[in-house]
Amino acid sequence: MTTQTTDNRQSVSAEPFDIVIFGGAGDLAFRKILPALYRTYCEGKLPEGSRLFICCRGDRDPNAYLEQADVALQEYLSPGEYSKAGFKTFCDYVQVVELDIATSDQRWQVMAEKLNNEADRVRVYYLAIPPTIFGICCHHLHDYGLVNRHSRVVVEKPLGYDAASATAINNEIARYFDEAAIYRIDHYLGKETVQNLMALRFTNVIFEHLWDAKTIDHVQISISETVGLEGRAGFYNEAGALRDMVQNHLLQLLCLVAMESPHKMNASSIRAEKVKVLEALRPMRDEDVMRHTVRGQYVAGNQKGKLVPGYLEELGEAGSNTETFVALRAYIDNWRWSRVPFYLRTGKRMKQRSAEIVIQYKEVSHRVYGADTGPLLPNRLIIRLQPEESIQLSMMSKDLDTLDMNLKPVTLNLNFSEAYKGFKSDAYKRLILDAVAANPSLFIHRDEVDHAWAWIDPIIEAWQRSDDTPHLYRAGSWGPPESDELLAEDGFSWFNAGEYQAP
Ligand code: BG6
Repeated sequence: MTTQTTDNRQSVSAEPFDIVIFGGAGDLAFRKILPALYRTYCEGKLPEGSRLFICCRGDRDPNAYLEQADVALQEYLSPGEYSKAGFKTFCDYVQVVELDIATSDQRWQVMAEKLNNEADRVRVYYLAIPPTIFGICCHHLHDYGLVNRHSRVVVEKPLGYDAASATAINNEIARYFDEAAIYRIDHYLGKETVQNLMALRFTNVIFEHLWDAKTIDHVQISISETVGLEGRAGFYNEAGALRDMVQNHLLQLLCLVAMESPHKMNASSIRAEKVKVLEALRPMRDEDVMRHTVRGQYVAGNQKGKLVPGYLEELGEAGSNTETFVALRAYIDNWRWSRVPFYLRTGKRMKQRSAEIVIQYKEVSHRVYGADTGPLLPNRLIIRLQPEESIQLSMMSKDLDTLDMNLKPVTLNLNFSEAYKGFKSDAYKRLILDAVAANPSLFIHRDEVDHAWAWIDPIIEAWQRSDDTPHLYRAGSWGPPESDELLAEDGFSWFNAGEYQAP
């Protein structure tokens, strides 16, 4: 029996289930989905008899596929997780299916017969394929009798290219699956610290009273990556950082920081609160876009002592204006957040890999200690999602190393990698198991997708209308200087992971 949850607790099925992965030979499958399934198996969360159907285009020999999967697992699992024997038994669950998604032929029929041998068990279809073929894939699932009350479909971002294309994709899927059976993934929501952000906010009275424009000065949400195109040039050059990262991951994080408390921790209440935040985001007109956004593109530079090529060289073509970096200032026009700037930043080929949310509190209203006691830093709550997960609160305290009355910043530290040794966080594993357990709390509702695009589209359109091109930044840096200027205008600076003084 699948343990269904009404809140966002992780639940694990005791009964066998089926997962069908479309796009089994793609980058996402090798990097994220297979490692997540292997971990699920190793942790005993893949009940005996469960089946993993991995669909690849027909020109691939199943044994060759498994060899490739073996290599990928060794590469993408953490040290110590992989074993030859483990992989061998994991393969007992796997069936490699040759299938051309777009072609209705005998191979669909064969797969349908296998799946419908177990028509009453939970079945998850994972569409790790381009959104342009979501529609035809769902159509065939329906035509071959594969959509039933036990089936759900998981779809990967990006959902569309703009509001209109997202609507078209969502409409296509909705022809065959009810909204309740559609699980739109944003893997950032599966990260443990992201869920902990909600736990922190909604279970601690101190944050209930210290979470608004009266106490918070500004918020920074920053995801910096060291990787470049990673073989996804075709997709990335069409998308760019705003569509790839801001429309989904960064706006989702912003929602979790800014939303009101849901009345219950269930999917509909959480999603309703997130939608209210997206609706309250101040729209940007052309002149706002020029003032509040910075886009960049990396050129060759030195990353950790190694010279790496620029974006255009990696892409292999000149003249692309695709942004690989975005920094922007957003406002949420409601009572809680009135006039509090939210600074969002993301980029490829940056100096460090990190993802952090920094809540900067206001300065104390009146300084009672003299200037000779040292600088008074405002409190800061730092929620780090990557590379390690931690939450820190910086505070001022008396320096106990001296009898003099000197002030010194100290940190309240919740370092999860220390506290939960051996725990392996894997957002994809968590989200796949949630989909099996019919728990959509950490997935995106269609309304969220629509509202996010409604805010993003005018930014893209203003960039397209402008003659400006992205500002260049060196690979291995923190982005173009204009990004620093964006914050300097307001008297702030970015907290660059590993560089600022975490007291
Ligand atoms: C994906 C983007 O959604 O997130 C990638 O498409 C990006 O471009 C990735 O590299 C980052 O995820 P994470 O979990 O490694 O920070």
